[in-house]
Amino acid sequence: MTSRKPLIAGNWKLHNTVDESRALAVAIAAHVRGKSACDVVLAPVATSLTTVKRAIDGSVVGLSAQNTHWEDSGAWTGELSPALLVDVGCGYCIIGHSERRQFFGETDAGVRKKIAALLVHKVVPILCVGESLEQREAGKTLDVVLGQVEAATEGLDAVALAPLVVAYEPIWAIGTGLTAKAEDAQDVHRAIRGHLAELKGKSWADSVRILYGGSVKPDNADELLGQPDVDGALVGGASLSADNFIPIIDAGVRRAES
Ligand code: 13P
Repeated sequence: MTSRKPLIAGNWKLHNTVDESRALAVAIAAHVRGKSACDVVLAPVATSLTTVKRAIDGSVVGLSAQNTHWEDSGAWTGELSPALLVDVGCGYCIIGHSERRQFFGETDAGVRKKIAALLVHKVVPILCVGESLEQREAGKTLDVVLGQVEAATEGLDAVALAPLVVAYEPIWAIGTGLTAKAEDAQDVHRAIRGHLAELKGKSWADSVRILYGGSVKPDNADELLGQPDVDGALVGGASLSADNFIPIIDAGVRRAES
């Protein structure tokens, strides 16, 4: 269907002790061992990054942080940096999640600086964008989402941005059990890709993986991943159990094979 390799990422948010993280990572790594049609990434809490890295070693599963600062080091109490993420083996980092924008004052300008810093360190940014219910009902979905994408990539060219992953996560669908209809998700994904093409060139835009996030479950994953511009999923709640996450990984493998 496409040359873009599907990516299924689990965002564990603020869940799981070190022992729980290890057990979940071991179960997922055992399932995907040797399979490489679909990229699989786990984003545990920061205190479990090293343990999860050990648990997935030797498998194709990648490690992601949930946030970073843009500076490498300095007087920034409570922060992590791209350099430190590399130090513990992170290949990915979620940036601009709506929970950070809503509850921790994350701005488009900060998101952009973090993306630039991650790219310098060759860490793949997973840029999250998405509209609130109010914005959707006011017909502003594309204004909001395309504006977030544009602000996050401003001043960076297609060469620098090559590895970028975008995740479209409508805020009203996160943790609510409400999912965007597959065709509605496709419309937004297509618009994001079109806008990236206008901003930075079509060949890069065609290579960018755009994930969907918001109540992805085993029973809706195939339909969402069957859309031409839905290249994977960023999964919250359903990534917290291997029984739920593994069937979503398998839906990613089916997309790769379709
Ligand atoms: P849920 O899958 O729990 O809706 O969370 C989605 C999300 O926010 C992933 O980053």
